[in-house]
Amino acid sequence: MNIGIIWGSDSGDTEDVMEYMVKKLSKYDVESIHVESSSINDFTKFDLLLLGISTWYDGDLQSDWERFFPTFQKINFRGKSIAIFGLGDQYSYEDYFVDGVGILAKEVIRNEGEIIGNWPTEGYEFAESKALLNKDLFYGLALDEGNQYELTKDRVDKWLSMLGFILSDFDLVVKSQ
Ligand SMILES: Cc1cc2nc3c(=O)[nH]c(=O)nc-3n(C[C@H](O)[C@H](O)[C@H](O)COP(=O)(O)O)c2cc1C
Repeated sequence: MNIGIIWGSDSGDTEDVMEYMVKKLSKYDVESIHVESSSINDFTKFDLLLLGISTWYDGDLQSDWERFFPTFQKINFRGKSIAIFGLGDQYSYEDYFVDGVGILAKEVIRNEGEIIGNWPTEGYEFAESKALLNKDLFYGLALDEGNQYELTKDRVDKWLSMLGFILSDFDLVVKSQ
């Protein structure tokens, strides 16, 4: 099975998470592509696609995603399973928490793709979010590096396991050296 991770990051947080995921998924054939250098074909050529995005300026897409968005809207996702992870700040932007996840998810669904990897809202405090599938679930994984940095690795591990991946234990390997 091959896995693609297409991502964009303004201050490096989503990039860090992407790098962590690539290591955790090292048992698989994984390719990481910056959204800025992606083509439509990159969104449909993988068995499973993960999208990584942060939210900026009161609910806006991360800048590279924003530039790519008109193209993204034209992609036909029929028969494709897509999982989205998003970075945000639940306290400073409580009315727009990880909105980017919801904006991308709704486009995928509108263009006939399936969103997998819905994630519980329990453990987060925010007022509003476009990333809500319902009151109990986000469309995808929500991460908050500013306020809940210590939870990120555990959340990522759980989410990847939930998606059915067997993860590499590179943390243990590093510690035993
Ligand atoms: C000016 C500014 C605006 C932001 N706007 C939002 C927002 O609307 N919603 C949100 O959830 N997070 C918001 N954030 C938080 C970022 O999404 C968060 O810092 C994230 O980790 C950045 O990831 P990146 O480095 O991959 O771009 C904002 C941060 C800054 C500095």
